[in-house]
Formats: sequence, C-alpha cells, structure tokens
Amino acid sequence: MGCDTPVCVSLKGKIAWVEIDNPPVNATSAVVRSGLDDAVTVIEQSDATVAILICAGRTFIAGGDMSEFDAAPQPPHLPDVVTRIENSSVPWIAAMHGTVLGGGMELAMGCTYRIAAPETQFGLPEVSVGLIPGAGGTQRLPRLVPMQMAINIACQGQRVSAETLLDLNAIDAIAKGDLRADALAFANALPPRPKAVSQRIASTLAPDLRDAEREKITARAKGQDSPLLNLDALLWSALPFAEGQRKERALHLDLRNSAESRALRHAFFAEREVRRPAVIKGITPDKLEKIAVIGGGLMGAGIASAVLSAGYSVTLIERDEQAANAARMRVVSTLKGALQRGKITESMFLDHKARLVSAFNYAAAVGHDLAIEAVFEDVTVKQDVFRQLASVMADNAILATNTSYLNPTEIFAGIEGPERCLGLHFFSPAHIMKLLEVVRLPDTGAQTLATGFAFGNQLRKVAVLAGICDGFIGNRMLAAYRREAEYLLADGALPYQIDAAMRSFGYAMGPFEAQDMSGLQIAWANRKAKAMHRDPTQRYITISDQLCQAGRLGQRSGKGWYDYPGESRKPMRSGEVEALIEGFSSANSITRRDYSGDEIIERLLAVLINEGMLIIEEGIAESVAAVDMVQIHGYGFPRWRGGPMQYATEIGLERVAKAMERVDAESPGSWIVATKLKN
Ligand code: NAI
Repeated sequence: MGCDTPVCVSLKGKIAWVEIDNPPVNATSAVVRSGLDDAVTVIEQSDATVAILICAGRTFIAGGDMSEFDAAPQPPHLPDVVTRIENSSVPWIAAMHGTVLGGGMELAMGCTYRIAAPETQFGLPEVSVGLIPGAGGTQRLPRLVPMQMAINIACQGQRVSAETLLDLNAIDAIAKGDLRADALAFANALPPRPKAVSQRIASTLAPDLRDAEREKITARAKGQDSPLLNLDALLWSALPFAEGQRKERALHLDLRNSAESRALRHAFFAEREVRRPAVIKGITPDKLEKIAVIGGGLMGAGIASAVLSAGYSVTLIERDEQAANAARMRVVSTLKGALQRGKITESMFLDHKARLVSAFNYAAAVGHDLAIEAVFEDVTVKQDVFRQLASVMADNAILATNTSYLNPTEIFAGIEGPERCLGLHFFSPAHIMKLLEVVRLPDTGAQTLATGFAFGNQLRKVAVLAGICDGFIGNRMLAAYRREAEYLLADGALPYQIDAAMRSFGYAMGPFEAQDMSGLQIAWANRKAKAMHRDPTQRYITISDQLCQAGRLGQRSGKGWYDYPGESRKPMRSGEVEALIEGFSSANSITRRDYSGDEIIERLLAVLINEGMLIIEEGIAESVAAVDMVQIHGYGFPRWRGGPMQYATEIGLERVAKAMERVDAESPGSWIVATKLKN
C-alpha cells in the first residue's frame, strides 16, 4: 500500500481499508492508537461508506504493548479510540486472523461487524499479567456472550474460537476463502447496522451461581487478586455502560501499579529473556530428528513422552529386554493419560507411539542426533553409558545427562569431543514440568548450547542456562529452603505450620507436603553420599534422616512428614513425627519458641533470595530472570509474586537483609550471606 506508518488508510471506492502493520503482534502501541484515531477522522471526512480493519503479518492485534505499562498512559487512550470507532457514522468491520487478544478483542467488540478467518482465537488475557482489561473489554464482553463464558475468558484467560463465537452471533461470519476477499464481499453486502455492543443488555448470572463462581475463582487464585477483580469488573456490566467503563478504566490504571501486575509482567519478560542467553546469540542450532533416551525409569519415560510429543523420533534404551518393555509401557501409558485427559487426539497418540522404539543395546543409538541419559544416579554407571554411546554415535552427536546432583564434568570425563556434552536437567514429571536447566560444562560449545535451547523450545519448556554447582540453580536453592525449614522445625515450628504459611504465600504446597509427595528417599541418598563433605560448622538437623530410618518415606509409603491413612493423599498431622521433632529439640537443648506465619515466610524467602543472589554472584545463573524462572517453572513459586528475586525488589533489599541477619544469628556459621545482603 506504500504506507510507512503502522496504521495505513487507503480508500478503494466506497471502502476504506485500515491496515495495521506493527510487528510482531500488532500491539496497540501509542502510534497504533493515534493511527486508528486519525483513521476515524479521515474516513468520516471521506466518501467511504464502510471501513475494514485488518492486520498484516501472522495475527490480528494480540494485545497491548507491555513495554508501555511502566509509564503514565499516553493519549490517545484505547477506550476512547474504541468508542470513536463504535460511534463513527461509518460502520467498521473487523477482519481478523490469528489471535485476537486483549486490546485487539476490545477493538473488535467496538467495531460494527466482525468477520474472522477459520480457527481464529479470541481472549482477554489481561488477568495473566495481573490486570483487568482497560478499554471496555469487561463491559462489552457480557453484552456479546453469556456471562459464564465471559467469566471463563476474563477471569481464567480462556480462549474461544471463531466457530464458538459465530454460534453465539458474537461474530458475523467466518471467512471461507481469503480473509480480504471475504471481508470485501461482506462489505459489499452489509447487513442492516446492528445496535452498538455497548448499547446492548448485558447477560447476567443468578446470584447463587455468581457466588459459586466467586468461591471457585478465590480457591484457584491462591492469593492472587486479579482473577476476582476481573469478576467484579464483569459484573459492573449491569450498570449503565459509561459508568461501568469508567470504573473499569480506573481499576485498570490502578492495577498497572500493583505489585501483582509488576510481578507477572516481570515473569512474562523473564520467560522471553532466559530463552536467549548471550552465549547463543546469532548461532544457528543443529537440526535434530532422532533422539536416544537412555534409561526408561521415572524420568526417562517422562522425557521420552515429552520428546515424542514435540515431534521427534525416540529410541528408548534400557538394560535388558524386560526393562525395555517395561519402559515402553511406561511411555505408552503416559501418552494414554494425555489422550484420556483430552490433551492429544487418538491420531496424535498413534503417531507418537509409532515414533517410539525401545531397545536394550547401544547399537540402537547409531544415527541419532542427541542422546539424553537418565539412568541411575551413579557416576560409574553414567560414565559407562557415555563411553558406550560415544563408541557408536557420530562424533558430532550431542550427549546430554539428566543428572540432578552429580558433577557432569566427571560424568563426561574422557569422552571425545567435550564441546558436544551438556546437561539437560528435566523436572519430574518430565512430560509436564515446564522447566529445563541447560547445564553448561567448562568445554560445552556454544553450538551445543544453542541446540539445547532450540530443543527446549521445541518441547515448549522454559529452558534456563545453568552453570555447575551442587544442585545447579534449582536444587541448590531447594536445599537452602529445606535447610531453613528444618532449622525452623528444630527451633519451634511444626511441619503443618510451615506448610500452611507457605501456602498462604501462594505456593500450592508447603515444603514438607511437597517432600511427602515426591518421596524422601532421593534427598536421603544424596545426604548420605555427601555426608563426608558436609561443612562441620553448618547446623545439621537429623530429623529428616530419622524419619527415613523409621520408614517414613512419603506418601507412597503411607507416611512421611504426615500420616496418610488408607489410600488418602490428604496430609494428616502425625503425633509420631511431632514427638520426634520435639525430641530432637530437647536432645539438643533447644528451647522451642513460637513462629508466626509471617516470620516463617520471611525466613524461608530470605534464604531463597540469599541463595539466588549467591548463585548469580558465582555466575551459576546469568540473571535474576534465570533464578526466578527456575523457581516459578520448577518449584511452584507463585508466578504472581514474580519469583524470589522480583519479590526481593518489591519488598526492598533492606528488609531481606534484616531477615537474613536474623536467620544467620539463629544458626551461626550455617549460612554464607550474599554480598548484596551484607550491611
Ligand atoms: P529410575 O530408577 O526411575 O530410572 C532409572 C532407569 O535407568 C531404570 O529404569 C534402569 O533400569 C535404567 N538403567 C540403569 N542403568 C542403565 C544402563 N546402564 N543402561 C540403560 N538403562 C539403565 O530413576 P529416575 O528417577 O528416573 O532418575 C534417573 C536420573 O534422572 C537420575 O540421574 C536422577 O538423578 C535424575 N533426575 C531425577 C529426578 C526425579 O525427580 N526422580 C528429577 C531430575 C533428574
């Protein structure tokens, strides 16, 4: 069209085409808003009888420009632009494709007519960044779709398809061929002008259903505010439109300055930042097709499922035929689970299964591009696996270990081509957990890392670069967190108090419930293996070992930090455990004292933040973004708190430093305090 601004108006006869070209997602940045504002004026002064709003690139407007959200809003404001479009004497048609989200959806609802390409997705995802829509979204949506659907869209960030919206008459047509051609045909045979959406009557929910929704949303939000605030805003649609819109806008602007929204925006940007560490910039990753997974136990089977779902072929190698068959069954049953839960279709299930081969000899790895080892946590077993793999695989095939606590440098000692070796540390269950630590050894090549990151992206994981230390980023922080939790036990708190405090902070589970769920034995084995090297000045609490010795290994053994009578998974306080804890305190002459929930949170957060800072100081993690993403995607840190490092920024380092000082004073010699927290 020969237009060099992001919003371009061209008149063709009686039709005005308004095209937005603001890559990558045509966000409603200030320049787009003012372009649209001008377009309304220009079109009203022209001979055009209808305007068609369409976007270049892969999608219609997919949201606001979040980089603008930290500053004061710049005019023209989106709600005013939407109102001008809605009230324009010239009817506007929104011609949409891709994902119509946030401001895009709000603009679409302000248009007189809506036509979409097949499978276009619609949504108001503001809740995912701690906001409510600010341009009439919560007021127009219930005037266009039933309130229940509006709640699902605004409070949960659910998306709906063009097909669903067409059934509800919320859009006018689905394009059958080319969107432009169909929009033009629609414009040439316009139906009578319907009532503006803002002038329609909003749908409602009966009071009892409304209360039930409120309860459901509160339970799901785990302390987060914005889902409920979205509900409040939707219910304002019962007011006259102008009043509802005023309230919506005021709350939207307030929320831009909320800690919750700052945290969620931080998480949004951090997710993008960690995917592109400096070391891989500009490097084209290798193409991978065939992946070998060695060891098909808990982790190997989960990894194989994730890799199959990402479209690769997988050869799963076990020790013998029986183990290979069992491993294959584990993968198939995981895939079946996905099928039953509606995550994949029958044909996808069959396709994934067809790409899986199981074997019990290393020759099966010939011709594979990448091998991921997930055998027993034993350095000699792992070394032997890599020797065998290196002898059959190509010299440039990538070799990865999934070890949690062993030193990868030791595992790969003596393997030819150390630049192709790295750690790919998955989290359990590997087909579900989003985090992938990409562990860089001293000799790992940038090409190998770039391929590791591309592989992680293909698996839809959040890949984070980690250096080598005991536990890498995540498990090292977990160890600090658990250590302080055990100091608290020794000094006066009980597991249920600590768990309740951390749940109130926003975790789905506290540290002891979580250990019971995943099992206590791995950490126990690890403690035993490291016993010789433990720092003797550091406090060591034996309660956990005593529990394991008593056969209390977690939910699977029917008891752990809690009792699980019968088949129950609900943690019940255990008299035996509490007596054991109190026994430990008295045997060590500790006078137990009460800890409030806030004090527990303050201490556990302080050690997490402290460890995160040390990890960054040591160069194990590249940035606060890396630490926060590990915590959110691997350890259940509440996303709406942004991660421990973002939380530290929010509450102020001085407060964290004071808390760490108290932690340090109660367990002298047990903590290394990060430079930034030393007064
Ligand atoms: P697992 O005991 O469930 O599975 C290990 C599998 O490896 C078994 O099926 C075994 O038959 C097989 N295996 C052993 N030696 C083998 C060999 N030489 N060749 C082929 N297969 C062999 O163990 P899990 O939990 O799956 O752990 C595997 C690795 O993943 C360990 O290094 C562990 O530290 C790591 N990891 C474990 C996590 C967890 O939550 N369990 C999380 C992240 C990493």
